[in-house]
Amino acid sequence: MKSIVIAIDGHSSTGKSTVAKKLAKELEYKYVDTGAMYRAVTLFAMRNNWLQNGKVDESKLVKNLSSIEINFEYNPEAGTNDVILNGENVEKEIRAMEVSEHVSSVAKIDEVRKKLVEIQKQLGEEKGIVMDGRDIGSVVFPEAELKLFMTASADIRAQRRYNELKEKGEDITFEEVLKNVKHRDEVDSNRKNSPLIQSEDAIKIDNSELSQEEQFEIILNLAKEKIEPA
Ligand code: DC
Repeated sequence: MKSIVIAIDGHSSTGKSTVAKKLAKELEYKYVDTGAMYRAVTLFAMRNNWLQNGKVDESKLVKNLSSIEINFEYNPEAGTNDVILNGENVEKEIRAMEVSEHVSSVAKIDEVRKKLVEIQKQLGEEKGIVMDGRDIGSVVFPEAELKLFMTASADIRAQRRYNELKEKGEDITFEEVLKNVKHRDEVDSNRKNSPLIQSEDAIKIDNSELSQEEQFEIILNLAKEKIEPA
């Protein structure tokens, strides 16, 4: 069986991570959530008070990038990898709304991207990997055997995200979540460095009207066609 790289990019809150995790499990591949890495750097900046009123102190963050170490650790309960920031499991903290609000400003810093892309390339050196993010098919693995670009309407994505956050007990309104989803689309798509774009050879999956099961079946079939070509 051929070992391949599967790059899953797309808009925020399109369920990329959910489907990527499930796919990796089914194929017995490694899974890497690159958004979690940008979130961990954002948390690091927040804890140092380098992020205020939506503005990041870029020079302080860049100067201290070498003191940020990001690893992944298998969490048997979740059946996936947790993010470890300088030895501390921060999987829960990085999902908070406050981190979501600031992460786009951190993700547009060239030096931050350079550092994280380098780690991501190393993680995929041996293939047999599903990686999700915004620039995986365009920058990290332009040679990936399978590239998917996931999207859905902003309203549907905000509703899914809102339900998730409410379940976790966050005090938030639907309008706030919708505003955040649209803001991230705007920043992610218009930044100078590695903007969110659909690579020419990526397959677009609009899951506005698809159930998770339907979507998974489509994606699993696409992966199988690449792994075991007829
Ligand atoms: O997938 P996510 O929502 O957890 O990603 C968090 C943020 O990180 C998102 O606003 C865009 C950014 N990101 C990025 O710029 N490049 C990636 N490869 C992954 C995420």
